[in-house]
Amino acid sequence: MQTIQLDNKTTEVLAALGISPERAAQTGLPFHPEATELALAEIGSDGFPHLMIPAAARAWQRMREAAGQDGVELYIVSAFRDLASQADIVRAKIERGMPLATIFTLSAPPGYSEHHTGRAVDINTPGCEEREVPFEETAAFVWLTANAGRFGFVLSYPRGNDKGFAYEPWHWLFMEHQAR
Ligand code: DAL
Ligand code: ZN
Repeated sequence: MQTIQLDNKTTEVLAALGISPERAAQTGLPFHPEATELALAEIGSDGFPHLMIPAAARAWQRMREAAGQDGVELYIVSAFRDLASQADIVRAKIERGMPLATIFTLSAPPGYSEHHTGRAVDINTPGCEEREVPFEETAAFVWLTANAGRFGFVLSYPRGNDKGFAYEPWHWLFMEHQAR
């Protein structure tokens, strides 16, 4: 039998959503503990402080600066998310009547989101709807595709990814060893 080891907090957050640990694990996603050391990556236009682990926050700022020098404006839609924030996202979909099987193609169960690591960032550029596929048609996405790797960022969920998520051209993950 498969043993599922989740910390109490994750189990409680899932239980409050009516999701068993077994159902969350069925997604096949790796468990991602919440980052413990976070730094300010950017303040949103609404004043929201977007946090990332320190190395990722620095890499983000360098990347945003480099993009700006090439005439491309990048901004953060969402970076670090704790378990409660991820639960809010999933709960909103449950309340809209969306089945879990569909929800888990769009949002990870709490405990399983790359956003918990403080290394993931949802990126947008002015004039584009946030977290929508047409982001791939922007100069920002073209720029990221050509340059994000230099700063250690990789696209987590390309079309046809094996994580079972729909295509997310806006979601990039900082992998320090890949920076060059
Ligand atoms: N939208 C991505 C897959 C997440 O929920 O982490
Ligand atoms: Zn994301």
